[in-house]
Amino acid sequence: MIIGLEAISFHTTQHYIELSDLAEARSIAPEKFTRGLGQQQMSIACLPEDTVHLAINAAKKALERFNIAPEEIGMLVVGTESGVDHSKPVAVYVHQALGLPSNCISYETKHACFGAMAAISAAGDWLISGRANNRKALIIAADIANYALHSAAEPTQGAGAVAMVISDHPTLVHFDRNVAGHFTHNVMDFWRPLYAKEALTDGHYSIECYLDALTHTLTDAKPELPRLSDLQACLYHVPFVKMASKAHQRHFEYDQDLKLEKASTDWLNFEQSYQTKTLPWLDYNARVGNIYTGSLFLSLMALLVNGNLTPDQLISLFSYGSGSAAAFSLIRPIAGYEQFKSCIDPSLELAGRTRLSISQYEEIMQQRDQSITENDRIDPADWGLTTPYLYNGNQAHI
Ligand code: HMG
Repeated sequence: MIIGLEAISFHTTQHYIELSDLAEARSIAPEKFTRGLGQQQMSIACLPEDTVHLAINAAKKALERFNIAPEEIGMLVVGTESGVDHSKPVAVYVHQALGLPSNCISYETKHACFGAMAAISAAGDWLISGRANNRKALIIAADIANYALHSAAEPTQGAGAVAMVISDHPTLVHFDRNVAGHFTHNVMDFWRPLYAKEALTDGHYSIECYLDALTHTLTDAKPELPRLSDLQACLYHVPFVKMASKAHQRHFEYDQDLKLEKASTDWLNFEQSYQTKTLPWLDYNARVGNIYTGSLFLSLMALLVNGNLTPDQLISLFSYGSGSAAAFSLIRPIAGYEQFKSCIDPSLELAGRTRLSISQYEEIMQQRDQSITENDRIDPADWGLTTPYLYNGNQAHI
């Protein structure tokens, strides 16, 4: 049985900031954000854009653009770490808004940025078990990354959702289920306790934890682990673009260690490897920022839109969720996937966002916090939103 992606779509906010503007406002050299972190812009959520709103819009696009009827969905899982309720899942609002069948399994998964990858694994197992009865799984990775104003993590925020339909009739990529590496380890690298609206992080330690988890997943995937030269593209969780570069360097060094002798041109080879296998697929991430659960899949979208893949080439995926859990896995393109490039491409939506000044952004962040406290919502007309979604009311308008 072949299991894989039959649809993938992205939705982000209607507003963004330029990181060069943020750098100027914080009296930091802009190159620190643009070259040091590799980021250009950051999507900013303005109420009523919350995780529910992002998830619904991404899912709606996935079903409509790939011509999948709501009745075909038998499983709905939303991976998120920025849900709207401690108890009620984002999934149930999506279920209502999309008119999914009442016998559809629905729930939310959480393990920081690993939540959506965990849901994809569950969907694969559900399809293989035979309980799907010709139905498909809708998996949504939806998040708003929120750190304190003026903190070191501030330039690594972002907001967006990636919706994916997983089925046994995939049209885009299929999962190579023979190779998998897993790693779980309790660390305090990034967390958001119940009282906090913003995530807390030990930033440099989190980078170490991420890289350590990558090494462990590669080791766990041995002996089937393919050599780097056999991988057409290497995709990683992308909290910021430079992190994917660090990850590829670790992957490269791991691969070099599998050889008996190291070449003297290793560094040159690393740059070449990064420039061809990873960097070309990071453009959307550089313009949206960290979308936690969806970051890895946003990079996959860029590969599907801009790569010239041939069927069965190998692509690696590394998912990392702070706290921590990680997985290394492989996928392969399916013949004819190119015909869906225009359905996947989010370029127009990214270009259509409205740029905010830093003072507008700061006001939005403060209003967002107040609004959550008071359980009240800002009038969407204030921000020119065309698709208000009121999940606290009785109706969803999308
Ligand atoms: P920082 O400490 O302010 O930055 O915050 P820095 O001093 O480490 O500088 C960053 C880079 O810019 C460095 O490059 C500098 O050299 C360079 P590197 O040495 O790393 O290659 N730099 C410059 N480059 C050019 N021109 C200049 C200049 N100045 C400096 N003038 C940090 C950085 C990432 C720590 C912070 O933004 C942060 O805490 N972010 C949040 C945590 C995070 O994203 N961690 C990533 C791994 S954990 C993860 O991915 C999980 C996560 O997504 C959550 C989840 O799972 O849910 C976060």
